Amino acid sequence: MNASLVDWINDLNFNQLADSFGTPSWIVHEGQIIENVSKFENFTGSSNRIYFPVKTNPSLSVLQIFAKLGVGADCATKTEVDLALLAGMNICNISYNCPVQDIYLCKSLLIAGAIVVMDDLDAMNALQIEMKEIDFTGKIFLRINLSGTIQYSKKIDNQELMAHGNSSSKFGIPIEDVEKALVSFNLPVSGLHVHVGTQMDNMGSFEYAITEMNALAERILHLGHSISMINMGGGLGIPFHKEDEFPSLDYWVTQMSKLKNNRFVYSVEPGHALIGNAVALLIKVLTIKNSRDKKWAIVDVGTDQLAKVTLLKWPHRIFYASGKELLEGSGAVAGPLCFAGDTLLENRSIDHLKVGDHLLISEVGAYTYSLSNRFNGRLAPKWLVINVNGQITQSIAKENHTDNFHLTNFDWDVDSIKNNTIITSKELSKLSSIYLSEECNFDSYIFEKVVKLSTNKYEFQVITTSKVDFVSMPFATRIFGDAAIISVLHNDGLDEKKVPVWGKKLVIDCFRKINSNELFKFYITMSAPLQKESDTIRIVSFTSDCKSFSGSLFVQYKNEQFSEKDLIGDTGIIELLN
Ligand SMILES: Cc1ncc(COP(=O)(O)O)c(C=O)c1O
Repeated sequence: MNASLVDWINDLNFNQLADSFGTPSWIVHEGQIIENVSKFENFTGSSNRIYFPVKTNPSLSVLQIFAKLGVGADCATKTEVDLALLAGMNICNISYNCPVQDIYLCKSLLIAGAIVVMDDLDAMNALQIEMKEIDFTGKIFLRINLSGTIQYSKKIDNQELMAHGNSSSKFGIPIEDVEKALVSFNLPVSGLHVHVGTQMDNMGSFEYAITEMNALAERILHLGHSISMINMGGGLGIPFHKEDEFPSLDYWVTQMSKLKNNRFVYSVEPGHALIGNAVALLIKVLTIKNSRDKKWAIVDVGTDQLAKVTLLKWPHRIFYASGKELLEGSGAVAGPLCFAGDTLLENRSIDHLKVGDHLLISEVGAYTYSLSNRFNGRLAPKWLVINVNGQITQSIAKENHTDNFHLTNFDWDVDSIKNNTIITSKELSKLSSIYLSEECNFDSYIFEKVVKLSTNKYEFQVITTSKVDFVSMPFATRIFGDAAIISVLHNDGLDEKKVPVWGKKLVIDCFRKINSNELFKFYITMSAPLQKESDTIRIVSFTSDCKSFSGSLFVQYKNEQFSEKDLIGDTGIIELLN
């Protein structure tokens, strides 16, 4: 009946992982995600009635696994919708739900076939005006604010910040106002939504919520709205330590299934219970400090990635490389930040720890990366995925400080002292690069070999000829741009380039030289396609074999496989990535 802690971390060789990939590294366990999804499926009947809340963990490494399993996404913004679609989720499997609703986004999502969960009576009125005489295939749900108190059992500290479904919270439409509001609402309502709150340990709160929702759905059916689905939200808590008590997922499914009404189908959108125990964080001890009677192990991650752990005081288990858990004692494990609250685990015995030791923090999949920050210039760790066959790959590289928004968008003209000196043509001809102005026209390349390696991955081998002995940025742009075009068109099943392909945004990292006039190898991977009106947008990434060159390119092109008519139907049109 009580949820247990995960054990997949016992199979990891931390030292080997750290030697191969470095620290800090997020580690996602696909097998654990599959197990969590299949348990919820016992309640919903299908994986596509599970909506993963993107706010819980927006890493593409995580979203892509859910997309492959047919799971949809609960999104609160257009950015989250874009991420879910790029990861390969279907637009009909997107549920948009936010306390501040963008009515234009609601409209385009409804036309495209998604679910829109209305959170407020004024927003319902605005939607009604906006959707006047517009056909749509999507579904409108209402988020319900229940009238009773949503009560935690033991985790009473969660009451103030986490009881999202409580009558005093800002979320949803008060249950007593719903029927009256529907009298003047002329759009069809297909479903109801409730979310009791996060890290809920009280089965009674879920049982109360489903009973209230069933009764309300029945009453609304009588008003002529064909309510078919009830979304029970998320909220099921997970343990971080052996003394934490939460209903197990199996128990939750058994109890909730008993309360189902067979007139309705049920969906869920759990955050913690889907991803919390499927992610761990591999870290390293940077220094050991002795201060008065206390010993501190300072590690390479703190509040920057684990604000939930340090600020909310939700500590997680930490393991030695031997696989043993850090036991109670008088020391502490702390992050590297200039902030006194940056402590990950207090009262631990750390006498055996040394500088350079590797540790693992478990059950850190929910509200960690999504709440991360750049305090003290800390950057995002890399992401590793352990697939169902136990193979480990790096899916996202460590953030580089040159990716920093401030560095790339800053206006460097700080003093702005007027200076209107004209640079003469004589000076220009001496300052200008002969290679860029003339010789790069003679750069040429031949693709020696191109192989489609997997669904969205291609390998290119290219021979270059250039007047300079390295592959220059403009030359690389041509080679990668062409490889991107070949890959996306081939991936779409086309055998000829009949349409213009427009490069929209290019990022190239080139911190090591690649020699020209010899063969080099690189890989292309691409996102799922997004439709923008009758155009397709894809994000294409490239990495050279020796990782000297890497980057990405947004491409947009008319997809001749779809006629404009097809796109307006089930596939839908949605303005994305603007
Ligand atoms: C609307 C909604 N659904 C689902 C969730 C997921 O909650 P949890 O992680 O507690 O399962 C949240 C989180 O706050 C939410 O706001």
